[in-house]
Amino acid sequence: MFKKTSSYRQNIEPDLLVGLDLGTSKVTVVVAERGAEGDEAQIIGVGQAPSNGIRKGLIVNLDQAVKSVRQAVSDAQNMVGQDINEVTVSFGGGDVTSVRSKGMVSLGRTPRPVMRLDIERVIDAAQADVVVPANQSILHTIPVEYSLDGNVGIDDPLGMNAMRLDIEVQSIIVPTATIQNVMNCVSRAGLDVNGLVIKPLASALGVLTPEDALAGAAVVDIGGGTTGVAVFADGRPKHLGLLPVGGDHITNDLGSVLRLPLNKAEELKRTVSLRRDFDPDETISFTHSSRDFDISKSDLYEIVRCRLEELANDLIKPQIKASRVALLPSGILLTGGVSKTEGIDEFMLDMMDLPARVAMPVDANRMPPGRNTQEYSSAAGIIKYILTRERDPFRYLDNPAIGGGKAEAPKMPAYAPPSGESSAPGPKERREGGFNPLKSIGDMFKDLF
Ligand SMILES: Nc1ncnc2c1ncn2[C@@H]1O[C@H](COP(=O)(O)OP(=O)(O)O)[C@@H](O)[C@H]1O
Ligand SMILES: [Mg+2]
Repeated sequence: MFKKTSSYRQNIEPDLLVGLDLGTSKVTVVVAERGAEGDEAQIIGVGQAPSNGIRKGLIVNLDQAVKSVRQAVSDAQNMVGQDINEVTVSFGGGDVTSVRSKGMVSLGRTPRPVMRLDIERVIDAAQADVVVPANQSILHTIPVEYSLDGNVGIDDPLGMNAMRLDIEVQSIIVPTATIQNVMNCVSRAGLDVNGLVIKPLASALGVLTPEDALAGAAVVDIGGGTTGVAVFADGRPKHLGLLPVGGDHITNDLGSVLRLPLNKAEELKRTVSLRRDFDPDETISFTHSSRDFDISKSDLYEIVRCRLEELANDLIKPQIKASRVALLPSGILLTGGVSKTEGIDEFMLDMMDLPARVAMPVDANRMPPGRNTQEYSSAAGIIKYILTRERDPFRYLDNPAIGGGKAEAPKMPAYAPPSGESSAPGPKERREGGFNPLKSIGDMFKDLF
């Protein structure tokens, strides 16, 4: 395998961004190459492998999971012709909780511009209120809303004049052992972990257009063993949730009710249309392991409908309610493998009483032919996550001290008013020096294993 040594573009080093999604059905990899200053990164390849050793988003067999990661990465390496050494990983599993808290800092008796330090302080203040259960860790701290002098809905307070800054943040809390197992699995596959992203956030970033994220939308990623829900409004995630039910439950239902082997149940499941555009008396006849089966299409339909109805009513709706977002003009964006079910958009519209559509990775047009499906939503979203954090380090904050204790806001240089340009360090600068929370997580975990 050759390693590229120079870029065809000038003044930039070729820089690979790699997203690795540890799904319950597949491990998927999306590789992007950083563009010239101001350009979006270009997706140059993908890879995948069946995920073994991962169930309901949790690693249940480390050796098998490591093999799946190696296989998916090698698939991607073959496509891009470059070595992959570092990845940013999305994962699900376990109890993922989203906790809201508020913080306030005073800026003085007369208005003055908000500095980076003020944003750090207000995030610290909001985090001080979060109670993290034993053996759980904050994975992300996500500002949900800023207010200045009581005016809510401030998009970016940096540099704006005020006397008081308020914030509401969302903390994503996951079991520490889950994080350790993910880090362990990926590093045993020979890769450095540059970052971790909770799966529903990755999927949402993969499929949301900026317009949908601003208007208000819920991204529902129905995978094999889990369903991720991300509710966005004003361009920010207002709520993230992960539910332990996915398409594999439909397969199991079909298998147990119709007494079918699972591989046959899986095959039949993919033929079901939720549009109900079939003859209810029609049956599917086949012989499997020398047994004859006659299965009515309406039985198949009923079983799939039942499970999806339960998922929508009992699991997805409460998540949307928890977001406290009253209106979702862009409705539900369905993604993940189960969103390939025919008619699932109309079905969800009926169930949720919201517009619903199937959504592919927004960069799908740049994905290789045949691979631009909704199974790559999360991995594609990781690339967006990396780029968003480089542009705006306060949008998604990682916990530099995972393993217990309180998350810290990144240490950034104070805002220098008004030199015209933003004082944020460029991508290169940020990669090489200064604060890198994920490096600290990585170093910490290296110590652990
Ligand atoms: N054409 C299809 N119709 C219905 N379900 C499908 C179809 N293709 C895949 N699935 C289901 O999608 C699920 C896998 O989704 P995927 O997003 O790949 O999972 P994960 O992200 O958890 O690895 C499985 O339950 C699979 O049966
Ligand atoms: Mg998926």
